Amino acid sequence: MQSKPVHLPVLLDEVIHYLAPRDGGLYVDGNLGLGGHSAAILAASSPGGRVIGFDWDEEALARARVNLAGYQGRVEFVRRNFAELSEVLPALGVDRVDGLLLDLGLSSLQLDASSRGFSFQGCQPLDMRMDSRSPETAADLLNRAGEQELADIFYLYGEERQARRIAAQVVDARKKSELTSTDQLVKIVENAVPRRFWPKKIHVATKVFQALRIAVNRELDNLQQILASVADFVKPGGRICVISFHSLEDRLVKRAFRNNPALELVTAKAVTAADNEILANPRSRSARLRVAAVRGE
Ligand SMILES: C[S@@+](CC[C@H](N)C(=O)[O-])C[C@H]1O[C@@H](n2cnc3c(N)ncnc32)[C@H](O)[C@@H]1O
Repeated sequence: MQSKPVHLPVLLDEVIHYLAPRDGGLYVDGNLGLGGHSAAILAASSPGGRVIGFDWDEEALARARVNLAGYQGRVEFVRRNFAELSEVLPALGVDRVDGLLLDLGLSSLQLDASSRGFSFQGCQPLDMRMDSRSPETAADLLNRAGEQELADIFYLYGEERQARRIAAQVVDARKKSELTSTDQLVKIVENAVPRRFWPKKIHVATKVFQALRIAVNRELDNLQQILASVADFVKPGGRICVISFHSLEDRLVKRAFRNNPALELVTAKAVTAADNEILANPRSRSARLRVAAVRGE
């Protein structure tokens, strides 16, 4: 029998080391996913530590509820964007917390779901929303946006050098028929990019898919928003741990930590996965953990 896909939490020991959860502490997990990191935070802060777990994906939250059932009464599940943290905490009667973890991006559950359009393999609807309540799908965006806007998205969020060519082909293709599926987009990218520019190690459409996903979910805006306010809701001495998976995110985290006078760097350089973790979980290869502490203790 085949087992269900699991999501292995990345840099788990490192997160627990730096976040240093303690009995009685209150922690925010901004990316609950399947609850892997939260389970470890709850175990390390037993018997009285608590977690407020955010995820805007209904399915992830449902799975996390099952996976964290053993910690009943110690976890609050919140289906909101983590960028709205400063509104959610007061509504929960919380002023400040003892630490924050962000483990950005997609879970394996989302990537493997055949109906959500995150993967360029097969034929899936061009959706790419992590939060099904948000108004615009990848298809909506591809059929609506002007050629320049599309080129900017591919270039800025995908660092795709063939952005203009691809945007022109998207606009051309959608004149003939509306774009609805991932295989249509893959074909457009394959036709737009001359063979000599096809990357050797990744699929030719990888960067375009990354760019669209970032745009549809406003991933960089959300990250910037939460990073700008962290020092307001984490207690002095509390730690902020952020795991990112591509250079655009990592750059934002690095700058936000350096430029915020209320924060002190805990890790001078990004922490990366050890070889044995990469072997067991290839997703951890691109993970970069940065940690800061709120000054004042
Ligand atoms: C990499 S997974 C987290 C995995 C988790 N740490 C674990 O151990 O199972 C990222 C999760 O964050 C959620 N997510 C991404 N951006 C979000 C945001 N702005 N607000 C709330 N949830 C978000 C995704 O839906 C996804 O489930």
